[in-house]
Amino acid sequence: MKKFLIIANWKLNNTKDNISEFLKYLNIYLLDNNQKNIISIAPSFIYLEKLSREIKYKNFFITAQNVDINLQGAFTGEISVLMLKDIGVQYVILGHSERRILHHENNNIIAKKFSLVKKYHLTPILCIGETEKEKKLNKTYEILKNQINSIFEICGTESFRNTVIAYEPIWAIGTGKSADIEYVQKIHKFIKNYIIQYDHLSLDSLMIQYGGSITSLNAREFLEQMDVDGLLIGTASLQYKEFLKIVKISNNIY
Ligand code: PGA
Repeated sequence: MKKFLIIANWKLNNTKDNISEFLKYLNIYLLDNNQKNIISIAPSFIYLEKLSREIKYKNFFITAQNVDINLQGAFTGEISVLMLKDIGVQYVILGHSERRILHHENNNIIAKKFSLVKKYHLTPILCIGETEKEKKLNKTYEILKNQINSIFEICGTESFRNTVIAYEPIWAIGTGKSADIEYVQKIHKFIKNYIIQYDHLSLDSLMIQYGGSITSLNAREFLEQMDVDGLLIGTASLQYKEFLKIVKISNNIY
């Protein structure tokens, strides 16, 4: 039986009122329906505790959208992995393309954050993916290898044990144009094979999610692919009805 990791990435969206409504319906659904999958939400930092307080379902984990590269000190405006751990965060998204592009986070910064997250026993979700231009120039594999190699260089060959990679082709994020399903399966297989060359890790200990314009209409086809272990969902996760539809679909795929 396949156990998926389904994460709502709310980015810079949602406020107290609609979060309360969302959590109310999510609670009702999760408590009424046994889940074989791991369900999580990545809200803005300031709502992480609200989620951990209000979600009553035991197999629910909270995800942070980012973390600072420093542990503590004079870094105004930042959030440390110690603080995330303190309030019970389980997963931390790292290297999302919006952070790479808009906040100039390079592979080296992301690898250092990855190392810190692992050191404190939280689970990193490393986002990797190519731009449309890189895809057209047939550079996808090279880009993905570079993004993975920087983790190997800083965190060692066993770095991907008990972690998550989210393959998110940048051209598919928020565009309504998800990647081709066979293409995604091929890339996920490539990522697994590439990592296994360096570390014969058990494939149960590395999950690869797909992200990029997932909706309740296309979620099933992606989850049916052999090497797709979950979904990182942006736009379609903002409304509880659409997110719950995807959660239900994922629960019926074995
Ligand atoms: P999207 O975002 O589902 O809106 O394409 C996915 C993501 O950025 O994680």
